[in-house]
Amino acid sequence: MHSLQCVLQAQKSLRWGPLAAMSWLLLRTCRAHSSLPTSASPSPERQENGVRKDFSSRLATGPTFQHFLRSTSAPQEKPSSPEAEDPPPYLTEEELLGRQRKVYLETYGCQMNVNDTEIAWSILQKSGYLRTRNLQEADVILLVTCSIREKPEQTIWNRLHQLKTLKTKRLRSRVPLRIGILGCMAERLKEEILSREKMVDLLAGPDAYRDLPRLLAVVESGQQAANVLLSLDETYADVMPVQTSPSATSAFVSIMRGCDNMCSYCIVPFTRGRERSRPVASILEEVRKLSDQGLKEVTLLGQNVNSFRDNSEVQFNNSVSTNLSHGFTTNYKTKQGGLRFSHLLDQVSRVDPEMRIRFTSPHPKDFPDEVLQLIQERDNICKQIHLPAQSGSSRVLEAMRRGYSREAYVELVHHLRESIPGVCLSSDFIAGFCGETEEDHQQTVSLLREVQYNTGFLFAYSMRQKTRAYHRLKDDVPEEVKLRRLEELITVFREEASKANKTSVGCTQLVLVEGLSKRSVTDLCGRNDGNLKVIFPDAEVEDGINPGLKVRAQPGDYVLVKITSASSQTLKGHVLCRTTLKDSLAYC
Ligand code: 5AD
Ligand code: SF4
Repeated sequence: MHSLQCVLQAQKSLRWGPLAAMSWLLLRTCRAHSSLPTSASPSPERQENGVRKDFSSRLATGPTFQHFLRSTSAPQEKPSSPEAEDPPPYLTEEELLGRQRKVYLETYGCQMNVNDTEIAWSILQKSGYLRTRNLQEADVILLVTCSIREKPEQTIWNRLHQLKTLKTKRLRSRVPLRIGILGCMAERLKEEILSREKMVDLLAGPDAYRDLPRLLAVVESGQQAANVLLSLDETYADVMPVQTSPSATSAFVSIMRGCDNMCSYCIVPFTRGRERSRPVASILEEVRKLSDQGLKEVTLLGQNVNSFRDNSEVQFNNSVSTNLSHGFTTNYKTKQGGLRFSHLLDQVSRVDPEMRIRFTSPHPKDFPDEVLQLIQERDNICKQIHLPAQSGSSRVLEAMRRGYSREAYVELVHHLRESIPGVCLSSDFIAGFCGETEEDHQQTVSLLREVQYNTGFLFAYSMRQKTRAYHRLKDDVPEEVKLRRLEELITVFREEASKANKTSVGCTQLVLVEGLSKRSVTDLCGRNDGNLKVIFPDAEVEDGINPGLKVRAQPGDYVLVKITSASSQTLKGHVLCRTTLKDSLAYC
């Protein structure tokens, strides 16, 4: 553990804030004064000139103003390649390079983690590492982890035990295998992982991926290395994630990180830190690049996408307060100014009218009318909204600190459906939260029936240390009751989703083709505007783009599909023609 402490200590001393820069300057000034000649006695004027000259020459050879700027500036202003920065004094530039070592990355958890994997890979690639998809040939294995519930964490512990065997076998080889934990679990458990699992070499929290080359260099010298510092401003704005699948039709673009909501059950604010948004200009640049690469769908990603607030441009930092959805409150002081989500959505949707825009995951409190109007008006913004409810009982919602009652939530659902006719809704629910009674559970069942979501993500409550619920509430619903309630919610959700999806039967829908169906090589699979999977036979069809020609649809093509059947998760149909998003509007 001693070597680890050294690393953490060195880490701290490298992070110079403005105060450190100031105290360095003060020290330089004092030294300049203390070197005044004492034997001869020049005139006070000459003395002063001498001091000034001496001080000027010292300043000229000392660190520049740029040096301090680099030490203190926000991460998004840093140069894009990590190796462009001065290396820390105790590692040579050579040691910071990957030297073609092969990295195997494994991702657990949500889409944010998939995006984080691409960010981590982008940083390592620039440092000279190679990526391998073959575990056996890896020099470094990095697990991008999730802490949201106990189950994914347990899966990762089990995986670590498997990797232990691999590492032990490798001990005899010339290049030892290194294992690292990235993301939420690294943040939540910190040094506990390193002491519990001696074979873990490296820990990097969600805001420390820029430090990976340095951490790996420290690991190479046989020490454990960790950086789990959370940041107030890291958004990786200048790190363009590497598209892992070149044939992909869609991409996720991270627009903000962290969360300030502090729902009482949730670990995210503790593992991912405070809410911060990426500057609009950098998001637009990434979306433009993706459009140039021919991608047809972008999903704006963040823990609270619709709370987006870019404060990076001073002229927009006015005192205009935030409009919350009617009947909603926040757990934090109202924020002001900045460029908001409606502005970003507007700009992103203008980049390429043939590119579909989605966003996830929003919070119901941040749906002002400007956002709803934009979704309704703009053809390429999908009419699909994720509206996490978590519970149908106002009593439980209060214990969860969600900032709304069942009534306010239902009112919002009506408002969304009036504002955006045909909108597809999805939601998250937790079964068996602290103090949930059978009556509370029935309220959730009735909300599922009332709203009739198209898609749902349902979980049994899993107590997480550090959260408010852990400290203040009792996890008093027995495990078997939680599971039984979860099963009931799943059954009801499926029944209602089937009913909701069946309303599409007989309609013609625009589908973005993703590729072959997993179940049959004679079928293609794609997604409709509501993000539901649509399966249809791969047939030669009329090409609406080149009239008179026949084509077979390819990934990335838009096709019109006549829906013939629907289940709770999938639609089936037959393809009519290839088209464009703009031309499809005449049919759908
Ligand atoms: N237990 C169960 N589910 C949880 N979620 C978040 N924290 C917990 C927890 N402790 C669910 C919520 C959230 C989704 C991403 O995960 O439903 O919306
Ligand atoms: Fe967790 Fe609530 Fe933040 Fe979502 S909004 S990440 S559930 S704290």
